[in-house]
Amino acid sequence: MKGIVLAGGLGTRLYPLTRVTNKHLLPVFKEPMIYYPIRTLINAGIKDILIVTGGNNAGDFLRLLGNGSDFGLKHLNYTYQEGEGGIAAALGLAEHFADRGKIAVVLGDNIIEKNVLKAVEDFRKQERGAKIILKEVPDPQRFGVPAFEKDRVIRIDEKPAMPASSYAVIGIYMYDGGVFDVIKTLKPSHRGELEITDVNNHYIREGTLTWETLEGWWTDAGTFESLQYAGNMVAKTGANKK
Ligand code: DAU
Repeated sequence: MKGIVLAGGLGTRLYPLTRVTNKHLLPVFKEPMIYYPIRTLINAGIKDILIVTGGNNAGDFLRLLGNGSDFGLKHLNYTYQEGEGGIAAALGLAEHFADRGKIAVVLGDNIIEKNVLKAVEDFRKQERGAKIILKEVPDPQRFGVPAFEKDRVIRIDEKPAMPASSYAVIGIYMYDGGVFDVIKTLKPSHRGELEITDVNNHYIREGTLTWETLEGWWTDAGTFESLQYAGNMVAKTGANKK
């Protein structure tokens, strides 16, 4: 399975920190934010990785990461997203890289304490469709939120005012090679973006979306509060444990 780290977008929620650098290069405790999602893929056994960058400082990713030798990689792939068309738009840029195979996608601002090896192994065995990972959180209205019927996810609402459950859909997704055809059917949401939640809802309608829950803590790092929380948690317990 190939892996993709989505590190495009403009990081406007972190202005002025992101006025002269890219959000994913900001420090989370001792390391740049993007180190964590790269390790999430590597710890799940994925070594063929594409970084989708964007914004004004894309060249800095190459200076920082090179061919990934700090992570034991021989090679890293890069591509560039113009503007901020949404997570699904950024993923759409990976079509040629994925080459119709299965992919694991990690948002560049998502950090986990442990690993997703089991979920990735399970998805390797899944014939088709998609897999999402859920985590119970105190503030689900900030995220994509699943609605359940018994243990079946029947819908995901993006940042709902009245969350249907206390779970967040975390920013680690697995898709079959058909995902790029799904992305081509999407229309921009009210925030003007192609939403990854719309991709996941497509797989729910198709009846091929599976889900698992995450062990250990998870956080995004895209707001001042969550960036500080991420740094504190990494300092306290470490991240990306095998
Ligand atoms: O963190 C998990 C959440 O991430 C999910 O629960 C939500 O369903 C999902 O929509 C997303 O929510 P956010 O609104 O927090 O996503 P954000 O716009 O902060 O983007 C997260 C990462 O995705 C960002 O660090 C880089 C990548 N991205 C985002 C956009 C908008 C891109 O590569 N390109 C983009 O255009």
